[in-house]
Amino acid sequence: MAAQFPRMRLRRLRSHDRLRTMMAETSLERRHLILPLFAIPGHNVEEPIPSLEGVNHFSVDRLLPFVEKSLDKGIGAFILFGLPETKDPRGDSGKDPQGPVQRALRELAKRFPEALLITDVCLCQYTDHGHCGLVTNDGIIDNDSTLQQLAAVALSHAEAGAHMVAPSDMMDGRVGALRSALDDGGFSNVSIMSYAAKMASAFYGPFRDAADSAPGFGDRRTYQMAPANGREALREALADEEEGADILMVKPALTCLDILARLRGKTLLPLATYLVSGERMMLRSAARAGLLDLRRGIMEAHLACRRAGADLIITYDALDLADWIE
Ligand code: PBG
Repeated sequence: MAAQFPRMRLRRLRSHDRLRTMMAETSLERRHLILPLFAIPGHNVEEPIPSLEGVNHFSVDRLLPFVEKSLDKGIGAFILFGLPETKDPRGDSGKDPQGPVQRALRELAKRFPEALLITDVCLCQYTDHGHCGLVTNDGIIDNDSTLQQLAAVALSHAEAGAHMVAPSDMMDGRVGALRSALDDGGFSNVSIMSYAAKMASAFYGPFRDAADSAPGFGDRRTYQMAPANGREALREALADEEEGADILMVKPALTCLDILARLRGKTLLPLATYLVSGERMMLRSAARAGLLDLRRGIMEAHLACRRAGADLIITYDALDLADWIE
């Protein structure tokens, strides 16, 4: 039987600075972090994104020095989003070899072979209606016809140099469709990190401004998940594992830590989480209002993701964290 108070005192192991450091069960390291990048058309453009303080839109040429600076700070994994020149109902600009993401991939892969290049695979930035899938005449988001288009987008990313693709659309069967397309295209080494359990969340607001991807009608609740559902989130994630996902992501992060922790007990795959735009801005707004210390708040939020089971964290704060982590 374990000792009880007063023989057992949990505070003993907190009584010395060094001992506290030695007793840390989880840690946050630069290698756990993935930084989102927003590539836009044009030349010599670098503009702050108003909704996402401290994050910029970059034309491809301006992305290069920024990535170099990130690598110097020890942040070496990036997830790319693109804002295209044109949009149409099918989101065809998403698979354009001359699109901002594809051009950025080619340049970055050439200049920085040490960088790990991940891409978000979705249609919402490329469709004029802003939905993540193809829409029928009746306004329904059509699952099966969307798969082929997503696979074509993923293939165009692999051809341009992506090491990993991350489907974020939440159609059924997309992981299998992407795996087949990548393998058939000769990209069996390109891995898939699926946005496996992705909630229809209020916390994507600032991102939709940044990516110009808000749906033009309706909402995403027929494909993204209901925040009420935990068991269903596990089914979503395990289905993606069966279809061949290499890494499973849960999103958002802070509102889904329970799902992350439960999933950790159900799969042997590496897990990721995405500390999304609204979660980040919630912390920043609170700090600006003088309600909490920004650095401690951000560190604690990310450490909680690691404690819940995340191997990797996609975060807009990666560069700040790189400065703060010892
Ligand atoms: C695209 C996508 C979204 C995010 C990542 N990929 C937006 C959405 O699903 O509406 C959100 C990221 C964030 O809020 O930081 N489907």
